[in-house]
Amino acid sequence: MTEGDAELEARLAEQEVFEPPESFVEQANVSDPGIYEEFEENWPECWEGAADLLDWYEGYDQVLDDSDPPFYEWFTDGKLNASANCLDRHLDERGDEAAIEWVGEPVDEADRTYTYEELHREVNEFAAALRDIGVGEDDVVTLYMPMIPELPVAMLACARIGAPHSVVFAGFSADALATRMNAADSEYLVTCDGYYRRGDPLDHLGKAEEGLSGVEHETTTVVVDRLGPNGDGFGHDLGDKHDYGDLVAAHAGAEVDPVVRDAEDMLFLMYTSGTTGKPKGVKHTTGGYLAWASWTSQSVLDIKPEDTYFCSADIGWITGHSYIVYGPLALGTTTMMYEGTPDHPDRDRLWEIVEEYEATQLYTAPTAIRAFMKWGSEYPDAHDLSSLRLLGTVGEPINPRAWKWYYKHIGGEECPIVDTWWQTETGGMMVTTLPGVGDMKPGSAGPPLPGVDVRIVDTGGDEVEAGRAGYLTVDKPWPGMLRTLYNNDERYIEEYWAEYSDLDSDDPDDWVYFPEDGAKIDEDGYITVLGRVDDVINVSGHRLGTMEIESAIVGVEGVAEAAVVGGHHDIKGEAVYAYVITEEGYEENDELRERIVAGVEDAIGPIARPEQVVFTPDLPKTRSGKIMRRLLENIADGEELGNTSTLRNPEIVEDIQRKAGGD
Ligand code: WT7
Repeated sequence: MTEGDAELEARLAEQEVFEPPESFVEQANVSDPGIYEEFEENWPECWEGAADLLDWYEGYDQVLDDSDPPFYEWFTDGKLNASANCLDRHLDERGDEAAIEWVGEPVDEADRTYTYEELHREVNEFAAALRDIGVGEDDVVTLYMPMIPELPVAMLACARIGAPHSVVFAGFSADALATRMNAADSEYLVTCDGYYRRGDPLDHLGKAEEGLSGVEHETTTVVVDRLGPNGDGFGHDLGDKHDYGDLVAAHAGAEVDPVVRDAEDMLFLMYTSGTTGKPKGVKHTTGGYLAWASWTSQSVLDIKPEDTYFCSADIGWITGHSYIVYGPLALGTTTMMYEGTPDHPDRDRLWEIVEEYEATQLYTAPTAIRAFMKWGSEYPDAHDLSSLRLLGTVGEPINPRAWKWYYKHIGGEECPIVDTWWQTETGGMMVTTLPGVGDMKPGSAGPPLPGVDVRIVDTGGDEVEAGRAGYLTVDKPWPGMLRTLYNNDERYIEEYWAEYSDLDSDDPDDWVYFPEDGAKIDEDGYITVLGRVDDVINVSGHRLGTMEIESAIVGVEGVAEAAVVGGHHDIKGEAVYAYVITEEGYEENDELRERIVAGVEDAIGPIARPEQVVFTPDLPKTRSGKIMRRLLENIADGEELGNTSTLRNPEIVEDIQRKAGGD
């Protein structure tokens, strides 16, 4: 490091506020600070501009119908189709431009480009095929696929015929697939033979088949041949399953008129973890969701049609839905997809892709940034990243050190960073700076977006003072919000509204949305999100319910009881720590430990794998029998123990602590 570098490092380390670079502001989609006031004064009509980003078959009557809170409706009676908005309307001007640039994991494999014309064609052909195998409007189609182009093709084909999709992350287990298909009564599955992970082909169809054996109703399945001859070794026989390639070929040249959907018709379902063992089926709509994904893509990610925009998330999560597929394609830009991991074959793979494709934006997660930081700046430094204009992060709080590393080594101190707080349920971004308007403060997401009414309150619902910790709430509805939990209006109210609303009131002012995050706000109205306040762990930006993991562990032979908490992890943010009581007659040994880990992987997937399994004769419980998780968290973090005086069995805590420490 030169002296100049050292000086720069020191300056960066101290700096707490960063102005957006002038070069960025000059060209930004949004650069007028007046937007905040304008939206506040003109609410909810301020969202007409978001709806105007879309093409409608029929205009809407009302921007917001709030007559029956919390069942809000947006752009009522408007008619549109999401696939037509993402494809057809771009054909005249951008038909030959790339819609998707896909990079497979194997370096020696040719990348694939889909122009808008080509994507439109394949979506039409597959839409025709789906109809042919029986998919009707409003039938839920499950998509259990990794990062291959056929996933967005299938999503848009579903949208075209008005069949909501439910994408299940490919890393989830067979059981997780079955649970979601059963919960959604989904009779159709699109999956693939396999995909590549760190150089090796992986058998995905085997897992899908195992999942299907747990589905309680008849199903029709389509299988994409991703691996070609490399997949033959898995020995699968398609049987009565359809081959994707054959189906598309049989419908070559087919044209399917986009089905006219109501703004409030369901576009998709996305399952997410909650406090109970049962995942929640979050319902998103066609009009409000698409308007929200498009407007935030434009104003926060600054997407323009001529960009090559790169989001490294997986489409199996909401980030990929909103910010790889729907937002970017609705705006007619080029969106990148990468199948593999950032460290294969080497730790510069992402930077190689950014350089080769001259990516203009990069949207990734703090967990990835912390890994890049650990690997060292020589990897990004070896590549020309000057095409980048904006950086983004999402999924969990980002520590200022990682923020500054990202700013310096990836952005070359010339790209604004948007730290975007939102959730599966919000459909799109809610709290973040507007990159062409607001100053950035590392570690703080920023103010709520214009028109978004976020407040930080205490348990009584009163706003807390600047600097104090409180709970994040959203006081006004927004177009991208979930409409309900699939077939479960009651749980929707209970999970998100009960805490701070007057449930008997039909005045929307009495209804407050609670996302179950803690946060604080500073004098400038900047919000720092502190993390979940429910029993949900955030591992590498992915939400996992402790109950789900506990029930997987209790399902393992030899386990009597289990408690799971999130403990601090340098790269993942949080990691899973499990405290387990064995059944009489079973030994506390590595064999059981391994079976516990395997049990969790089978029930949920490798992301939920416990970092540590600690055997204990008892768990810290209050006199009423409630497990004191906070104490287990202290143990996981190697911290001093909190108050143990309310425990029925205080002596157990030190015992567990000793065991966790390796005694
Ligand atoms: C939870 C939502 C949003 C898509 C990816 C995750 C946490 C998200 C931030 C951020 C601090 C964040 C919250 C939230 N979170 N973004 N910028 N700063 N925390 O979606 O699985 O629905 O998880 O992720 O705790 O509630 P999700």
